Amino acid sequence: MVSENDPDVPPCALVIFGASGDLTSRKLLPAIERLASFDRLPKKVALIGVARTVMSEDDFRDRCVEAADRSDGTSDRWKDLAASVRYVSGDYDDAATYDRLAQVLKECDEARGTEGNSVFYLATPPSLFGTIAGHLGRVGLNRGTARLVIEKPFGWDGQSARDLYTEISAAFDEDQIFRIDHYLAKDTVQNLLALRFANTIFEPIWNRTWVDHVQITVAETLGVGERGGFYETAGAMRDIVQNHVLQVLSLFLMEPPTSFHPEAIRDEKIKLLRAVRPMDDEREIVTNAVRGQYTRGGTRDALMAGYRDEPGVDPLSATETFVALRLSIENWRWAGVPVYVRTGKRLPKRITEVAIHFQRPPQLPLFPQAAAMLEPDALIVQVQPDEGMSLRFGAKVPGLAFDVRKASMDFSYGAGFDDHYPEAYERVILDALKGDPTLFIRADEVGRSWRIVDPILEYWSADPDAIPLYQASTWGPREATELIERDGRSWRHM
Ligand code: BG6
Repeated sequence: MVSENDPDVPPCALVIFGASGDLTSRKLLPAIERLASFDRLPKKVALIGVARTVMSEDDFRDRCVEAADRSDGTSDRWKDLAASVRYVSGDYDDAATYDRLAQVLKECDEARGTEGNSVFYLATPPSLFGTIAGHLGRVGLNRGTARLVIEKPFGWDGQSARDLYTEISAAFDEDQIFRIDHYLAKDTVQNLLALRFANTIFEPIWNRTWVDHVQITVAETLGVGERGGFYETAGAMRDIVQNHVLQVLSLFLMEPPTSFHPEAIRDEKIKLLRAVRPMDDEREIVTNAVRGQYTRGGTRDALMAGYRDEPGVDPLSATETFVALRLSIENWRWAGVPVYVRTGKRLPKRITEVAIHFQRPPQLPLFPQAAAMLEPDALIVQVQPDEGMSLRFGAKVPGLAFDVRKASMDFSYGAGFDDHYPEAYERVILDALKGDPTLFIRADEVGRSWRIVDPILEYWSADPDAIPLYQASTWGPREATELIERDGRSWRHM
């Protein structure tokens, strides 16, 4: 469905650094095409690519059209935008690149009426963020409404994140820096907010009186594929837990914000992250944190290589491809309610979900024999792939006996709504153009998230050979099962 042009989006030039790269052609250009086709972009918009690859503007335009073809780029709005695309090639540390960019932006202002507004999207390796920000500052492109959009990793640990911040903030103020976490832009993650704050039925039970524990799972079936080189420097803790998991956790468990103003929401998220107890004691880490690495596995027909055999990976690598944690939140609402987190590559199923497990009934007089077998009630929010929600509760099995079994009330997003589902990057780009920072991560959140994971990573790095292994296509190492079973609980069966 074509909507009205969004009056909130001011005229703007969108500049993509790393324009000849994979992220641009796989995610950004198709998202821009869809935004144009659904008439969500401002009427006065320009698209400029910057990259090291030497190519003509015509060649870059062809690339744009080709990338967008994958998402059916045939609308007039997109054709108009694609025909006016500009391209600047040059080294990112060469001042001349930025002088040319400044000139092209001026021409776009005149030709497309972009009124001097620009958004700089850095789809480049993070090591270039500081260099590019510095040069943009030098030519004055950081002024006014200019915004800088960057994607994780924001540093490698707390210290490097602070160093990166110092470099970037020499040219851009915090309110001009938009740090992406593409999980926040997923519709179902935002639905967590609707679930909690557009309903009255959940809030009264959203606390330690009713909730026994919380489980967050981000499971992937894929291995590291061609990204072995990058993954070796990251691992599951830096790649998924430090950002996606902690962001989802903070949205899910934070206090109700006083308004939906971006800062009100981010203030509540940081308060929650500050309440997550960092594991500063070795014993705490041993009891509450498990890492793992996949080895060869699968079936005879679908044999999967072990992590150490993947391209770009050190054959003796100790990088973790799996993490399980038991987190404690030290605040009034969640004291004593453990949050179990697990994430990994090469697990049996691709699924991201948050599950609230409620307390068991205090007494089961009618069916004590079933009590031990009956799982407690749970509310499960499935973020992907089958976006939806289920409420699991005990119901009587039809028949003369009084048997109780788990039943489920399910809501599926796909079946419930048939509206256009914006892809995460569509929302990220649109919000950056609008200047709405709600779904972007603030510097203090980045710092606090490192504070939570740093001690664990440091402890693990001291003994790389101790990493537990798990076979590809299983649910992680035995130690992860022990971590939760020690508490008399178990991971959700998926
Ligand atoms: C990225 C990680 O941030 O998220 C990848 O770098 C991971 O390793 C990906 O595969 C998962 O995203 P999604 O949207 O497929 O769940």
